[in-house]
Amino acid sequence: MALESLRYRRGSLEILNQRLLPGQLRYERVGGVERAWGAIRDMEVRGPPALLGCLSLAVELAGGAGPREDPGALEEFVAQRLALLQSARPTAANLGTEVAWGLGAGQVGTYIEGLLAKDQRDNRSIGAHGAEHILGGVPWGGPVTLLTHCNTGTLATAGYGTALGVVRALHERRSLSRVFCTETRPFHQGSRLSALELRHDGVPVTLIADSAAAAAMRERGVHAVVVGADRVAANGDVANKIGTFQLALAARHLRIPFYVAAPSSSCDPSLPSGSLIPIEERPGTELTQLGDVLLAEPEVDVWNPAFDVTPHELITGGIITEWGVFPPSQLCRELAERGER
Ligand code: MRU
Repeated sequence: MALESLRYRRGSLEILNQRLLPGQLRYERVGGVERAWGAIRDMEVRGPPALLGCLSLAVELAGGAGPREDPGALEEFVAQRLALLQSARPTAANLGTEVAWGLGAGQVGTYIEGLLAKDQRDNRSIGAHGAEHILGGVPWGGPVTLLTHCNTGTLATAGYGTALGVVRALHERRSLSRVFCTETRPFHQGSRLSALELRHDGVPVTLIADSAAAAAMRERGVHAVVVGADRVAANGDVANKIGTFQLALAARHLRIPFYVAAPSSSCDPSLPSGSLIPIEERPGTELTQLGDVLLAEPEVDVWNPAFDVTPHELITGGIITEWGVFPPSQLCRELAERGER
């Protein structure tokens, strides 16, 4: 059975509730934006929440929501719904931007539906560009060993994945020895989700504790680190899952190329640097409890940022997009040159 994060037919949408994985595979109906907001906030669906948000809006629009007679009022309605969705998880970039472009075209519902296919296409391109670049950087031409963080795969996208798209592309070319995947505390996206989907597809994967990452890079012959992105600032700084920054520091120390794989829509040229990216902080209970089991004294003070910012100079391999691989500081410039923003 294929693992799909979203199942969409015009006017109807289901999500795979990722909180139940890997124990239970359950799809749940999402009737509109409010339910999508809750699913995104509670991380039933995660990765950049753009797709679920957009599709829930498409469901509402297909159901006749919004003022149809007046294009200006419809535009305002869509903008309000998108702002509500963005508030569920504020760090990701590509919620409003894609749809704002669609609004210009005036065909909001149809445009949103097209995003699903575009995301799958873009991820295949990201995979191909990333595989080629990584293999081009090793004198023996592969196979290579990678290390990745969090979940950036089928479960975080419309399919194939971004950083996991690169992993998949290498595996398809018989050029992947192994991928180390961090468990990704405190929510365990690596152990619960990445390990699940990679094993599901027969990709050789080894799960490690987050704290074993630097040792794995040094002791287990990691050739490149590839992670995803939630938002890329104009100077190429990248917000991604908490722990990414320390992986980049370790990779730099060990002279291992560090790549970010993300669609160009993750770029936010309105923010000059990563220090301006809003970082979501999540409840302390994610650290102090695992289900009903207490992991810490419940009143302890907790700081639980969901993301961190990796400075562009640590992204030594480059940012892998659907257009190719770019030095971090050039990505937003490329966007402008292509007239995309
Ligand atoms: O908190 P999460 O699980 O939503 O964090 C996900 C990440 O940080 C991913 O690397 C990023 O969103 C890219 S997913 C294609």
